[in-house]
Amino acid sequence: MAKILAVGNAVLDTILTVESHPKEDHEVRALSRHHQLGGNVNNTLYVLKQLGHETAICTTAATDAQAKQLLNGMQARGLDCTHIQKFIQGSTPHSIVTLNAHNGSRTIVHFRDLPEVSFEFFAKIEIENYEWLHFEGRNIENLQGMLAICKTFLDQQPISLEIEKPRENIESLFHQANLLIFSHHYATAKGFQDGAALLNEMSKLAPNSQLVCTWGAKGVWYKAFNAPVEHLAAIPVHPVIDTLGAGDTFNAGLIDQLVRGAKLSEACAFANTLAAQKIQQQGLDAILSQKTRNQPIANLKQLSKAKATVIELNNRGSLILILHNEEAKAYENNCPHQNVPLNEAYKIDVNPFENTLKCSVHDAFFRIEDGECIEGPCWGEHLTPVKIRVDDQGNIYLL
Ligand code: FRU
Repeated sequence: MAKILAVGNAVLDTILTVESHPKEDHEVRALSRHHQLGGNVNNTLYVLKQLGHETAICTTAATDAQAKQLLNGMQARGLDCTHIQKFIQGSTPHSIVTLNAHNGSRTIVHFRDLPEVSFEFFAKIEIENYEWLHFEGRNIENLQGMLAICKTFLDQQPISLEIEKPRENIESLFHQANLLIFSHHYATAKGFQDGAALLNEMSKLAPNSQLVCTWGAKGVWYKAFNAPVEHLAAIPVHPVIDTLGAGDTFNAGLIDQLVRGAKLSEACAFANTLAAQKIQQQGLDAILSQKTRNQPIANLKQLSKAKATVIELNNRGSLILILHNEEAKAYENNCPHQNVPLNEAYKIDVNPFENTLKCSVHDAFFRIEDGECIEGPCWGEHLTPVKIRVDDQGNIYLL
């Protein structure tokens, strides 16, 4: 689709999933630990790549062992890594992230001693080869020069700037970008109560830019040229799994739609949906397939304890849903005896008194509670359980 260059940070994240964030001077035990790539533009480009774009990153890298890991990871994400400025001094930027297992909120401690991209390095990139340029609002002094050469040499390509936190002089960049994306961290630090107040004020500094402000559960505000500020409610999501990188995902959705010619309102609506999808999954991998995970496969009201409901999944076989003690049980519709669907020969008979269901092929009886075969040819074997979640309305989703 479009060739997109983004300038900013690439980081290694260590994610510690916790029951709750530790208070100062406390110790908590993490439920799990994993490592993944991070950094705002690194994340945004990865999502843009999955949306079908050719993505290139301009960032700095160290020469330590972690730098290799980071570089390999970015290449595996499909990013063009030609424009990476290497430094012998400093180490690979690293974040320790605590992720609350109950509400997906994240707290980040970021360590960085690596220099930022220099103006001279950026100036050598043939920026006219790209159709969109995106900048993380950091490294302000150098960004002033970078944005100035973009303005001088590019006449078609839009320039977007992410303003995540207040930084000295960041406002001097605003008039240079076509699209400004503010986060609520910036807004609250500047004393604004909501996105409308912020954007009305910011439009005075950047009258020719489109403006957007994301505010987590409060939704999104946006202001197109010569138009009033509009608001878009956040999409209700339950449960929230992982909010790390939600803003980066939103930015990708926004750029994707604008580069395809959508109006700002349409682009914000799409970005809002994409960010809602992101927070329902861990990390950023396969973010588009999350769409299918968002469709309910059935509702509790359709289920019974006296009948096995078979649900066909597109190209992925079928599963059995049945109520047990008012709870939905889900199993792959596959008998471990001969790997055939349980309803291959006839319907699946259920005995609600014995709490069993029976494979129609060779009469194997499975306990509904845990899927164990308690009588028949595959005695002691189990049906494979399928992970599901049920929302407040009784809608059942695959996890
Ligand atoms: C998420 C993120 C993390 C990284 C941190 C850097 O937006 O990019 O991946 O650790 O922010 O500030």
